[in-house]
Amino acid sequence: MQLHIFKDAEETTIALADWIAALIQKTLEVNDRFTIALSGGETPKKLYQTLGAYPYIEKINWKKLHVFWGDERFVAFEDQNNNAKMAYDSLLSHASIPSDQIHKISTDISPQESVEEYSKILYKYFDNKQATFDLVLLGMGDDGHTLSLFPGSENLSDNNSWVKAINSKEKGERITLLPSVVNQSSAIAFLIAGEKKAPVLKKVLEEQEQKYPAQLIQPLNKELHWFIDREAAKFLKGN
Ligand code: 6PG
Repeated sequence: MQLHIFKDAEETTIALADWIAALIQKTLEVNDRFTIALSGGETPKKLYQTLGAYPYIEKINWKKLHVFWGDERFVAFEDQNNNAKMAYDSLLSHASIPSDQIHKISTDISPQESVEEYSKILYKYFDNKQATFDLVLLGMGDDGHTLSLFPGSENLSDNNSWVKAINSKEKGERITLLPSVVNQSSAIAFLIAGEKKAPVLKKVLEEQEQKYPAQLIQPLNKELHWFIDREAAKFLKGN
């Protein structure tokens, strides 16, 4: 695991954009595609806007990208709270990624049908493969949730499934990837900004006891990167 701490959210975002562009370039030297799972929420919006503009919009080989989502709020694509809509508005509508390489989590069918549909797509891509995604981007709530894996949710460590429908009283219906498929990825990067996240970030990174869903993210190959701004890092040892 590596911590990458920067003075503010903007510097952290640029550093992550550079790191992503370099990882894509390195991967495409040996593979003919790059598979990425995007995160939702507020924090990554600036990152997507940055990747959707110069210089990244010119230097990244977008045609080779295959895009997925880590989770989705069960609202229509047109809804402001839809993670796919946010990514389209801030990045995908500007990048020349072939539309059949963009795999939204469907919210116009039942949650169970959506779980089955998304699972089928993932098995087609990754079943019997050494690793799953080349990169998974994650965020974390100030309660220590990540993806739509909330504290107290059941069966988060189910290793037989890759996708799950969650119905959280607080956050509503969601479709989410499970740690089982995320931890088989080649690389995982959290983007964390703002002092609101500081108390739980200290617990997630420094406490042994596994109380927070974000602690379930432990890639088999240890390629786990935390991109954090100084405010969020303020309680971490040595900071
Ligand atoms: C979602 C996300 C979720 C997010 C955290 C942090 O769909 O909401 O995938 O896991 O990363 O809630 O959200 P913020 O960046 O808005 O704080």
